[in-house]
Amino acid sequence: MDKESKENRKDDDLTEEKQNVSSKSSNVDDSEVEKIRRYLAAKLSVGLTGLGCEQRTQRSGESQQTTLREVSLDGIVEYIKEKADCKIITMAGAGISTSAGIPDFRSPSSGLYYKLDKYNLPHPQAIFELDFFMKNPEPFFTLAKELLPEGFKPTISHYFIRLLWEKGLLLRHYTQNIDTLERVAGLPSDKLVEAHGTFHTGHCLKCRAPYTLTWMKEQITKGIIPKCEECDEGVVKPDIVFFGEVLPERFQELADQDFVQADLLIIMGSSLVVQPFASLVDRVQTTCPRLLINNKKVGMQDRLSRFLGLRQGLVFDAKSAHGGRDVAWLGDCDTGCQLLADKLGWGDELRALIQKEYDSLKADDKSDN
Ligand code: OAD
Repeated sequence: MDKESKENRKDDDLTEEKQNVSSKSSNVDDSEVEKIRRYLAAKLSVGLTGLGCEQRTQRSGESQQTTLREVSLDGIVEYIKEKADCKIITMAGAGISTSAGIPDFRSPSSGLYYKLDKYNLPHPQAIFELDFFMKNPEPFFTLAKELLPEGFKPTISHYFIRLLWEKGLLLRHYTQNIDTLERVAGLPSDKLVEAHGTFHTGHCLKCRAPYTLTWMKEQITKGIIPKCEECDEGVVKPDIVFFGEVLPERFQELADQDFVQADLLIIMGSSLVVQPFASLVDRVQTTCPRLLINNKKVGMQDRLSRFLGLRQGLVFDAKSAHGGRDVAWLGDCDTGCQLLADKLGWGDELRALIQKEYDSLKADDKSDN
């Protein structure tokens, strides 16, 4: 048996196991299973803020109405064209910025987490962990020197999101990126949720005194760990969300309002592995189509979540009980966005917007020098 068949077999076994428990135990024990499921979900903290209702309505076995005539990029295009005032949410990760020259995190060999040997970290993610940072902020600031949002230009994907906004179709853009390129691309801040915070501002970890990017940049580029000038003690940390910190309130508040209203979800350039961001895909209505533009399929349900009935995830198998609304367009984000714009009849508009914006960024650069 090959590896995939074995995995499938294990999956089937797990499903069977679950089914057996339910059928043998009938009504009485169903509630027990439910209790265990809820207990485990709470203990494992997989049911993150606000996931309750939508998650439960999407448990395996329930059918859903198909909203796309064709489960393909063309089907999505037709859906957008036909739906007046289509409310679109975009969700993004590091993959929309790689063509700007900023590495993502998890792509084998090119991802940031594969290039951190020189920092002698206990594990790659430690560089973004609050506990580790409190003890040893140096590795983060050495890396920050390379990652400072300076001189990078937004990509076609960023400008595609801006075009959605200009067309009045963008309900909100949720990004995990801290590179500020959505802002540079001209997306207004009310349309933007920076789920993992931003480099734009910083705070002293001791007295919470605020600092600007310009001030932090000055210190970081000199190779100095930024120390607070108010209390003279605390380290100033950019307002990016580290592992071990809560996400900004704006994320919690807007996610609760937005996702139930969305007519279409477009996810681009993310591995969808970091929570709670990854679970946002489950917070749209069960009839809402979801388009993934990424160089590989991501965000599908894992076995534990399936057993616990928690995360539905993306379902690309149109034949399954949940199929019929999720489309994976596999390839480069910029190519996917340009193709989508072309198919919607906005291709030239997108190209012209990018040209205009690049010219103006170049002019800004010249006047700065
Ligand atoms: P990842 O590096 O985990 O995932 C990027 C995804 O984009 C992968 O699936 C890549 O294959 C894909 N990709 C890369 N370049 C692409 C391109 N040009 N076109 C299409 N696909 C491309 O990055 P994120 O999902 O953003 O958190 O990572 C999430 C979080 O993990 C980050 O915000 C960061 C990190 O730990 C914190 O630091 C708190």
